Amino acid sequence: MRKGLLVLVAVLLSLSGVSSAQYYPNFSKSTNLVIKRGFSKEALKCIECHKEKAPGIVLQWKESRMAHAGVSCYDCHVVPKGSPMASQCKGVRGTNVYTSPLVSPKTCAKCHPTEVEQFSKSGHAKLASEPVVTKLVALWGELESGGFAGNSPTSAARQSGCQMCHGYAVKLGSDKKPTLDTWPAGIGTRYPDGGIGNCTVCHNRHSFDIGEARKPEACAKCHLGPDHPDIEIYTESSHGQLYLTEGEKWRWESAPDAWEPGDYSAPTCATCHMSGIGDLKTTHNVNERLKWDLVHKRSVVRSGVRGDGEKGRKLMRRVCANCHSTLHIDAHFKKLDDSVALYNFYYDEAEKMLKDLKAKGLLKKDKWSDGFQELYYYLWHHVGRRARHGAAMDGPDYAHWHGFFQLFQVFKDMRAIYNYRIKNNRIEELSHVMSSAPN
Ligand code: HEC
Ligand code: HEC
Ligand code: HEC
Ligand code: HEC
Ligand code: HEC
Ligand code: HEC
Ligand code: HEC
Ligand code: HEC
Repeated sequence: MRKGLLVLVAVLLSLSGVSSAQYYPNFSKSTNLVIKRGFSKEALKCIECHKEKAPGIVLQWKESRMAHAGVSCYDCHVVPKGSPMASQCKGVRGTNVYTSPLVSPKTCAKCHPTEVEQFSKSGHAKLASEPVVTKLVALWGELESGGFAGNSPTSAARQSGCQMCHGYAVKLGSDKKPTLDTWPAGIGTRYPDGGIGNCTVCHNRHSFDIGEARKPEACAKCHLGPDHPDIEIYTESSHGQLYLTEGEKWRWESAPDAWEPGDYSAPTCATCHMSGIGDLKTTHNVNERLKWDLVHKRSVVRSGVRGDGEKGRKLMRRVCANCHSTLHIDAHFKKLDDSVALYNFYYDEAEKMLKDLKAKGLLKKDKWSDGFQELYYYLWHHVGRRARHGAAMDGPDYAHWHGFFQLFQVFKDMRAIYNYRIKNNRIEELSHVMSSAPN
């Protein structure tokens, strides 16, 4: 925030012709870049021509806080000639100006180093497109695109699904523009200049509006559906109920670090996971306030790259303490911790059966044609995650009917298959194949 203000001051000073360097001798190198530009003649050219070619972009940008502060197309889309992604748009061909449609967090970092640094430590940047996930994304993309049937695989399923949420490594064509099958991409996009992450998934371009990112809709594009129904859970929670009934009246545009209860009466996704509240500072690292790993097979307390679970719980409790008593907070987290323990009990039993069947040669090689293994997948990836997320964020229908109730059913089916295989020492003829997850 302070940095943002300094930048703004620098912009105003530079527009008024006063060198800001004499007022802020300690300005970092990155912000010097800001001082040099304003709406130069070059920048005006971009705006004038694009106003004709794509008025929607210019209109949105014009209303943004950044436009008001003098940040233009030129600051974000012009790259040095030596950049791996230096290309030229139709309007600058033949000049010595190089542009790119790609704007990586490295560019934002010139003016927002703190946000980019925090973001780069989060699962959103680090894990969403880590090599293992990218490999899975590529593999699944091909399998689902016909590869399983021996067709020549395309990447349609990857491009239309995983890539749009997780991100992907953008490849460049010979014109240095992104190839059509690797861009655009989601939150963990890997750019040719080494930047990781796509800020526009929450701050939609070209308004980059702070209020928009604070609303639950900013997260809902990705955090929904059978395997992580966070927006559905939120919508049925007491908090979501208040958002839906009176959210229109809340003050969404308060300055960063000054958005507090009173501006709103119940938290949104951003309030709990990112925003400053009370004595807590805003963070772009969504892992910071989490205790458990509720994504993977067995839930464990977060450590290493996934965060610091014990510290995370303390921070999250400080969010709640702005509006709830200690007793209420204790009750909520007891419910969550007990639910994690219950889920882990089911998971551990399922894992034991899986290992036993494997040791006895009673698993099919193709797990997607093997009822036991399909159910195993749904147990942790769908129903088990729904139960855990439902308990974490006050979604009783997801915790129970889409969660623990189904978990219990899936588990019983797995046990029946297990017992059959052990008793008969063979895999049942028509394995219990599910065409879709229980929902
Ligand atoms: C604050 C930085 C910023 C500013 C200012 C900005 N852009 Fe962008 N622009 C972006 C980002 C980020 C993307 C998305 C890049 C990606 O997906 O890799 C983008 C994407 C684009 C695209 C390609 C996507 C599409 O929908 O076709 C065009 C064209 C574009 N911007 C034009 C402009 C023009 C014209 C201006 C000035 C009026 C402008 N931008 C100002 C950051 C900016
Ligand atoms: C004389 C007109 C003109 C000027 C000046 C101009 N552009 Fe463009 N720009 C275009 C046209 C035309 C396109 C292609 C639009 C399309 O393909 O739909 C384009 C495309 C783009 C794209 C999308 C990616 C691409 O390469 O196709 C970006 C980003 C962009 N311009 C940025 C800029 C920036 C930054 C400036 C100023 C340095 C600028 N433009 C100056 C006309 C212009
Ligand atoms: C040349 C400097 C510069 C660059 C590059 C830049 N910004 Fe900004 N940004 C600013 C300034 C200046 C403000 C206004 C600060 C203020 O009002 O406190 C701002 C404000 C913002 C805001 C707050 C908007 C609001 O409604 O309050 C967001 C979000 C933002 N920028 C995102 C981005 C993203 C994402 C990128 C990269 C795609 C980016 N910025 C690149 C200078 C820049
Ligand atoms: C609708 C958006 C969306 C789509 C499509 C999507 N994912 Fe995800 N994925 C997510 C979200 C959100 C999470 C985090 C869930 C959580 O935190 O509980 C996630 C988590 C994951 C994880 C765990 C990440 C980790 O840190 O280990 C993997 C692996 C994964 N997804 C792979 C894939 C693959 C492969 C595809 C395509 C076949 C895919 N996803 C499609 C949104 C999506
Ligand atoms: C997961 C969603 C999300 C992503 C991705 C995201 N932001 Fe934000 N950003 C937010 C939210 C929410 C706020 C408002 C925090 C608050 O309530 O004060 C915010 C606020 C900001 C602000 C204003 C904060 C300040 O203190 O001045 C800037 C600047 C900003 N983001 C830049 C970025 C940049 C740069 C990136 C990419 C590296 C990025 N954001 C990616 C959700 C996001
Ligand atoms: C464009 C898609 C997208 C959007 C938008 C998005 N996320 Fe995520 N989110 C993901 C993916 C993919 C993951 C899994 C990343 C990983 O492997 O950790 C994830 C993981 C998370 C995690 C768990 C982090 C971890 O490492 O386990 C939290 C918490 C989270 N997101 C919160 C949010 C919030 C809050 C918002 C909105 C302000 C939001 N997300 C917006 C795609 C998205
Ligand atoms: C009242 C605060 C609150 C709100 C509102 C909230 N969350 Fe959460 N969220 C939590 C808590 C608490 C946890 C569990 C933290 C832990 O592990 O102890 C959690 C867990 C998560 C996780 C699971 C991380 C993992 O390990 O897989 C994701 C993803 C997530 N939230 C996303 C969202 C999204 C998206 C929204 C809005 C649609 C949202 N949250 C709204 C408090 C909240
Ligand atoms: C900005 C204030 C605010 C914050 C922050 C907040 N809550 Fe709430 N919460 C409310 C309000 C208001 C209600 C609705 C109470 C009612 O039903 O009248 C509520 C309801 C609840 C409920 C439903 C049970 C009940 O009392 O009706 C749970 C559970 C809950 N909150 C947990 C949490 C947790 C856990 C956190 C922190 C991760 C948190 N809340 C953060 C304002 C807040």
